[in-house]
Amino acid sequence: MCGIIAYTGSREAVPVLLAGLRDLEYRGYDSTGVAILDDAGGELTVVKRRGKISELDAAISSQSISSAHTGLGHTRWATHGVPSDENAHPHASCGGEVVVVHNGIVENYGELRKELTDRGHIFGSETDTETIAHLIEENLKLGHDLVTSLREASGQLVGSQAIVALSEAEPGVVVGARLGNAGGIVVGYGEGEMLLSSDLAALLPHTSKVAFLDDGQIVRISANGATFATRDGRPAKVNPSTILLDATTADKGTYETYMLKEIMEQPVALADTIGGLMTVEPARLYLDDLGDVRPWLERVERVLLVGMGTSLHAAMVGRWYFEQIARLPADIDNASEFRYREPVLGPETLVVSVSQSGETVDVLEAMNVARACGSPQITICNTPGSQSTRLADGTVHTYAGLERGVASTKTFTTSLAALFALALETAQVRGRISEQEFASHIQGLVAMPEIVGRQLDAFDVVAKAAERFSTTEHILFLGRGPALPIALEGALKMKELSYVHAEGYAAGEMKHGPIALIDQNFPTIALAGQHALRSKIISNIEQIRARKGEVLAIVTEGDEELIALADAALTVPSVPALLEPVAAIVPLQILAYATAKTRGCNIDQPRNLAKTVTVE
Ligand code: M6R
Repeated sequence: MCGIIAYTGSREAVPVLLAGLRDLEYRGYDSTGVAILDDAGGELTVVKRRGKISELDAAISSQSISSAHTGLGHTRWATHGVPSDENAHPHASCGGEVVVVHNGIVENYGELRKELTDRGHIFGSETDTETIAHLIEENLKLGHDLVTSLREASGQLVGSQAIVALSEAEPGVVVGARLGNAGGIVVGYGEGEMLLSSDLAALLPHTSKVAFLDDGQIVRISANGATFATRDGRPAKVNPSTILLDATTADKGTYETYMLKEIMEQPVALADTIGGLMTVEPARLYLDDLGDVRPWLERVERVLLVGMGTSLHAAMVGRWYFEQIARLPADIDNASEFRYREPVLGPETLVVSVSQSGETVDVLEAMNVARACGSPQITICNTPGSQSTRLADGTVHTYAGLERGVASTKTFTTSLAALFALALETAQVRGRISEQEFASHIQGLVAMPEIVGRQLDAFDVVAKAAERFSTTEHILFLGRGPALPIALEGALKMKELSYVHAEGYAAGEMKHGPIALIDQNFPTIALAGQHALRSKIISNIEQIRARKGEVLAIVTEGDEELIALADAALTVPSVPALLEPVAAIVPLQILAYATAKTRGCNIDQPRNLAKTVTVE
């Protein structure tokens, strides 16, 4: 979950590292630090601070750090040890000749720490990471070079890790290792300079030529280039690719938060995604990266969709798409549950993973389980080159651009568009759809960017409706059918941003328990669009109001009956049933945003969260 950046080349390292850390702050924001390797004496200097990058910036400015052209930096999401200056990365070995930054968990760190302490090592932090620095140092002392020392140290670690290290013994060199799925390492190729990072986002301002490490690979960079090796020390061939993603889309621009910008970008993100996957005239799909998995769309007997958080909610909507459009049995599963359940599946099941980052550890491990079962796999992903795209047999890309707000917004709506396209492709390959139906589904989807744009025009109206929630401590979100995942996603947005306790429930489940909570202090947001078994939702709303519960209904434009029934209503344009989720989530994103803003919460960096979850 932590962010890593490393640089070696002709420029001064510190400004590059600090800029990289700002690009990575969404990865973790408990503490930050840098280490630089002095060119002349080959001496390491470490500066690290608890808190945000501004703290680190101030600490660096107050010291006279000699200019250096090699260094690394880290932004931390604490796992072992509280956020503090001491526990912040980088971590040095006792002699100070080696520094390490790390993403992941050293599962056997207690054991390693004891062994190292018994051998005379002195620890300066409570972290698992520090063991790695001491292990590398021991190997350097045996006369190994830095790559070999990192490899030997890696062999002693249990668990998934991404590690980047510097040593005084090798000025101008940075090494990195990817061990398992606890976050990636991306190598950036510049002119007379090289970079390493946990994320593409931090490299794109410098270069579009990048290479991704696979599990078990180790990289060594110097200003002249990169060399790669496998876990057992053999040279590895890793080809760089060119990533066409505009780094400027990652700027906040004139918006006060990334999240607001990303909410407002949804019409463009949707138009880019839809335009990248299909044409209207003729009505045709171009899912070009399905590769060898395409024939499996005809053969499989069921689909299993997996994901986590917002992406799991997208998968839940996707289940409706596969069942309704392709008439293929579809299930969903939480990737963190699926991976440990010894699931019963094989080549008859198409596994579709949804992950905007393509680096969520539970999703990647679920994909490994599915692969071991022999299931064909497709991933829906917003990050080109990420691990999920490399594990899957085929990919449906979303073209939302980089998403920096910790709360996912535009990658949710674009994932729905990609899932819709994949279900249509499946229906077509299986001969389950007429040309007319196919064309009409495409037309429906192509209209969504404009519909979402209209939703955004009503931003102020929705934000005003959110005033009611600034003082409440609990909210119930209810939905049915394809609106149930939207109720769950609305509740997730509300709780993660505003810290209001929000529960998403199937409306039919109300009377089986949750209704006991309802009183005048427990408002409900009811997804009551035209397709959500309207008469049943009307009954649910009546039942809540009969218990003095307050209801804000999300209704279809012109539905006067529901508008009159609820205490307040927000409207969604009338769209085809399966596309209603794409429109209905927008007011819920705005409600959560506005509530968080009124409550003074940090919208882009909610407490305890990080954008990409790379540890269990
Ligand atoms: O990168 P992924 O889509 O795999 O991330 C999965 C979840 O961590 C993510 O969707 C999370 O729930 C959202 N950022 C919350 O808004």
